Amino acid sequence: MTEPLLRSADEGAIRTLTVNRPDKLNALNAATLDALQAAFDDAAQDAAVRVVVLTGAGTKAFVAGADIAEMAELTAVAGRDFSARGQRLMRSIETFPKPVIAMINGFALGGGLELAMACHLRIAADSARLGQPEVNLGLIPGFGGTQRLLRLAGRAATLELCLTGAPIDAARALALGVVNRVVPAAELAEATRALAAGLAEAAPLALRGVLDCVHAGGECALGEGLAYETAQFGLMFATEDMREGTRAFLERRKPRFAGR
Ligand code: COA
Repeated sequence: MTEPLLRSADEGAIRTLTVNRPDKLNALNAATLDALQAAFDDAAQDAAVRVVVLTGAGTKAFVAGADIAEMAELTAVAGRDFSARGQRLMRSIETFPKPVIAMINGFALGGGLELAMACHLRIAADSARLGQPEVNLGLIPGFGGTQRLLRLAGRAATLELCLTGAPIDAARALALGVVNRVVPAAELAEATRALAAGLAEAAPLALRGVLDCVHAGGECALGEGLAYETAQFGLMFATEDMREGTRAFLERRKPRFAGR
């Protein structure tokens, strides 16, 4: 039996998706992009899934980029289509209605860093290395790297990473705000599990409200973003979870959120 390009495993409400081409450092070829797209489309619809963790197989790489062997043969039109395919996936992850955590267990380069940046939270092993090395191939980032890095870390860091192509270590990525947390490699799985478990117990509609507001706010003027937040805030009062959360606080007990 051939190994799937993407492994999926559920632990309670946490779905872990693992890009599974360790012998190619989990490089994203077109088939892997399609498998990821299908997996995220499925997880979005599955009410039993409350959090997604995305990682790479093996100990060496999260994802070492788009597949260079596959890209080497592309025409200009096919290259544009490949970028559009990748960007569609990244957009699906960025606008995913439940939290998505990138567990960065090693190299996150090129399309790998772009994939991690499309996720909502990033937790990295101290051994991870991150970068946008496309210029070394005569290319530029094509899955949103120039745009998401700019929004995450600002112009100076984006120009440094994308112009030099040089990778940075996890500590520098943390200092730049590219990742949320860095932990010793041996503790990465457990730290990620604890983070995901907390989110899995939280009120799903409230999490979705936060995700929607922050995403909208990244793309609009302050006034529009504030108006959107007000509308979403009001909407929370129509949820059972809001009643449960406030009542549980007043009754000094732990809330149980149903996602309604
Ligand atoms: N696309 C396709 N194959 C890749 C790949 C990618 N982005 N990154 C690594 N691989 C493959 C290598 O070709 C090699 O395959 P082989 O064993 O069949 O020859 C295998 O993965 C292992 O990689 P290797 O280069 O031998 O490991 P290393 O430890 O010497 O170096 C890296 C690790 C990450 C520094 C190096 O693989 C690298 O620079 N990768 C490309 C990174 C990149 O430019 N990404 C952006 C692409 S747009």
